[in-house]
Amino acid sequence: MRKITNINAGWRFLKAAMPPATAIHFAPQGEAVSLPHTWNAVDGQDGGNDYHRGFCWYVRELTAEETRGERLFLEVNGAAHTCHVYLNGELLTKHEGGYSAFRVELTEHLRGKNVLSLCVSNEDNDSVYPQKADFTFYGGLYRDVNLISVPAEHFELLKDGTPGIKVTPVVDLEKKTATVRVETWHNAESVDITVNGETKTVERTAEFVIENVHLWDGLDDPFLYTATAKLPSGDEVSTRFGCRVFACDPEKGFFLNGRSYPLRGVSRHQDLKGKGNALSYEDHKADMAIIRELGANTLRLAHYQHAQEFYDLCDENGLVVWAEIPYITMHMPNGRQNTLDQMRELITQCYNHPCIAVWGLSNEITAASAVNEDLLENHRALNELCHRMDKTRPTTMADVFMLEIDSPILEIPDINSYNLYFGWYLGELEQTDEFFDEYHAKYPNRVIGFSEYGADANPAFHSSRPEKGDYTEEYQALYHEHMLQMIEARPYLWATHVWNLFDFAADGRDEGGKHGENQKGLVTFDRSLRKDAFWLYKAAWNRTEPFVHLCGKRYENRAEDETEIKVYSNCGEVTLCVDGTPVGTVKGKTVFRFRIPLLGEHLIRAEADGCGDTMVIRRVSEPDESYIFNKAAANVTNWFDADELDPACFSVSDTLGEIRQHPQAGPIVEAMMAKGASERGDVADAVKDNPALQRMMGRMTMLSLLKQGGADEESIKQLNRVLQGIRK
Ligand code: GCU
Repeated sequence: MRKITNINAGWRFLKAAMPPATAIHFAPQGEAVSLPHTWNAVDGQDGGNDYHRGFCWYVRELTAEETRGERLFLEVNGAAHTCHVYLNGELLTKHEGGYSAFRVELTEHLRGKNVLSLCVSNEDNDSVYPQKADFTFYGGLYRDVNLISVPAEHFELLKDGTPGIKVTPVVDLEKKTATVRVETWHNAESVDITVNGETKTVERTAEFVIENVHLWDGLDDPFLYTATAKLPSGDEVSTRFGCRVFACDPEKGFFLNGRSYPLRGVSRHQDLKGKGNALSYEDHKADMAIIRELGANTLRLAHYQHAQEFYDLCDENGLVVWAEIPYITMHMPNGRQNTLDQMRELITQCYNHPCIAVWGLSNEITAASAVNEDLLENHRALNELCHRMDKTRPTTMADVFMLEIDSPILEIPDINSYNLYFGWYLGELEQTDEFFDEYHAKYPNRVIGFSEYGADANPAFHSSRPEKGDYTEEYQALYHEHMLQMIEARPYLWATHVWNLFDFAADGRDEGGKHGENQKGLVTFDRSLRKDAFWLYKAAWNRTEPFVHLCGKRYENRAEDETEIKVYSNCGEVTLCVDGTPVGTVKGKTVFRFRIPLLGEHLIRAEADGCGDTMVIRRVSEPDESYIFNKAAANVTNWFDADELDPACFSVSDTLGEIRQHPQAGPIVEAMMAKGASERGDVADAVKDNPALQRMMGRMTMLSLLKQGGADEESIKQLNRVLQGIRK
């Protein structure tokens, strides 16, 4: 019989680079730790881009009881990012890739006393992905480590961390049947395979037909079957599987089991405030509960292979998943083999999960790399590998907004998807609509998705005149209100994923009043607070529990005579009460707006279908400075009131396109743009070489471009003075 022994407890951690023998020698002085563990739980989340990247040691003695059995294997479910495994000082294996499981046999190397030492590294290098991205590359043994004892005759354990069993259900919706092919890998003469109560004795592979099949039907009914395989030696493996049909139509979007099923959801990184990526099963379950409350029916598990436990939760909850490898941002010529290794392990280890719909080849890989032959060839090799290993799922890739829609790389994956941030990083919200309409008109036969979109919000910041880049909760909500409408008007978008459900660690960031965090989450990093935008999507997607949500609870002090009260609700009619008196009822869908006078402090209550929400707000004489993140930028909107500017001359309120045309003013702004670009490095080249982006920027005012580029107040005023000296 197979025996799995978890050995998360009892490790000694040495945060130091040293030879194996030295690590074993000093282990007793090491820090006593239990897995899951990361050495970047704190410095990987506090900003400064200075978290420890090096190689560290985990050392543990194995007891006689733990090493009992005919054949003994070590299983490591997550060692980020490169791991060398030593037993009694002897190197047994090296694994490169921080997100997949791997195993190594210990049997022949066991001695009387057995000391396991794992050297784990998150150092930067030019061959193991990821190396450049907007998230912290935590180092550590951050998932379970187990010993697996099996008889001499056992299922395959080593090849790419295989489960030893592969299940391919093919559903015939007309006949209501599923043909289930079960393949196994082992070293015995025969195997007994059981599916749905039927057992067949075969060499390796068996096929079953399930009549009147119970479909895996997304959120409504994620029904799971189990396939079990058993050898004469007693070794046994099993896996759950789901019978479903996924399809993508270029015009009508995604279909589940023959019915239109637009995939509308969010992305998730696997980290948590204070714990890094060393998450427990309870942490994963807690995240899934929030996802189910939101009402998302799809998840993009970015930007790497997530824990098996989380794909299991997606299977059980009926979420349709985008799985991917961390081939991200910057192409590395020496990294091709690593992309293939990580993709092979992802598919080998995750193939049986019914929740997975697509394999993501890369993410924004042209953000800091040219589309050259080496990059194209790497994608072709990955695409072919996916199709060889899995004939049932399409491939996709998430493209950066600067990538021209005519780029040859878009012809490689089966499905295209774009990450667009118009209305946050640059441009206006409406340019998202224009982008998709232009793409879909030009490529009507291509399936297209919206793989990322979002805006940062710090729940401390508020405004009644929210605008792009102010990090207010109100702007994030407005941004998502626009995107929700844009998406609902474009059913051809096969999947859309908000970036991101949770704030997450990017130690290189220092913005929006937080160090080391990307704040595009609908929920804060510690999961303690749902921002207003969370309730917008819950109102649009969660049709099970009626609720009303008053926006702006944290925007208590309002320096205005009249204020907007916005309510998100999945009910059809909302009534607003002020100080106990009903002041209005609005019929509608998702978003309900009211305007009320502010005379002092008021108790506000929204009610619908028996549920309600309450808040207190008050009139104040001066704006509450604590609500403003960028005080300098906050004033810039009234720097250039129309009456101050000479309309006969240029100013920063004119568009880049207008100013560029002028023989005298043009070179001045080009020089300023070139200076700004040189400070942004590679990304700027991609912008400069992208005609679509250039056209878009031409439509933006110099003020908008400069604010977005982070120009300081004095530079903006200086440029304006120069432009005001140039007659149009
Ligand atoms: C990109 C990238 C993400 C990143 C996001 C952002 O699209 O794919 O990893 O976090 O932009 O800038 O917030």
